[in-house]
Amino acid sequence: MKPLLEVKGLNSWYGESHVLHGVDMTVREGEMITILGRNGVGKSTTLRTIVGILRERKGQILFDGKDMMTVPLHRTAHAGIGFVPEERGIFATLTVEENLMLPPVVAKGGLSLEEIYGLFPNLAERRTSPGTKLSGGEQQMLAMARILRTGVKMLLLDEPTEGLAPVIVQRIGEVLKKLKERGMTVLLVEQNFRFASKIADRFYLMDHGQMVADFPVSELPDQMPMLHKVLGV
Ligand SMILES: Nc1ncnc2c1ncn2[C@@H]1O[C@H](COP(=O)(O)OP(=O)(O)OP(=O)(O)O)[C@@H](O)[C@H]1O
Ligand SMILES: [Mg+2]
Repeated sequence: MKPLLEVKGLNSWYGESHVLHGVDMTVREGEMITILGRNGVGKSTTLRTIVGILRERKGQILFDGKDMMTVPLHRTAHAGIGFVPEERGIFATLTVEENLMLPPVVAKGGLSLEEIYGLFPNLAERRTSPGTKLSGGEQQMLAMARILRTGVKMLLLDEPTEGLAPVIVQRIGEVLKKLKERGMTVLLVEQNFRFASKIADRFYLMDHGQMVADFPVSELPDQMPMLHKVLGV
């Protein structure tokens, strides 16, 4: 499969604070990639820098052949990248369906409302409920569903399972597997190692603002001693 996202020598800063120190990463079309790493190593910052929330950045980000360094944040979805941040960003006063309809459809290939409700039956049941009434798991599913309607080619997810009950985590895993079958490319930041090892094709291990290792899921048993050392898992 050809590379969809190519990141080279990516550096970024929060003001004076230099957080990414030359991130190199390639994601091929249809791959499901998980970024692992301890707290504070720059996982979320990597996603925020790729989509352009952090504008103080240097290096190369090519997506689908397009130079993302020149793409403003509000055009990221049009370029084909959808980002679900850790805080999810559900509008509390809008209903589930209003939240779903909010982002513009940017390309063909997005899921219809019907397909979304098929994939997330609990959102269908709650279509008229306001955002405030949703559980954490429902909010996470809504945040993902909302992006899937837009037709983006790649999904960036920041810790989608954080704080959720095991049964909901499993449900999100099933949804991600179905998305993979549809050809979606996914870059996932995940601390839930068990969850990640069930769905990822390949891992990147991050430390001190850099990718320090990458390996396919088949090498996971061999990599465990190194992961133990770096992650403490
Ligand atoms: N808005 C911000 N302003 C300044 N520094 C920040 C900001 N957000 C994060 N940082 C700092 O940047 C570094 C990387 O943070 P980041 O959130 O990317 O880590 P992370 O790997 O996602 O960690 P976690 O596992 O806790 O989510 C940390 O030292 C953090 O304190
Ligand atoms: Mg984070």
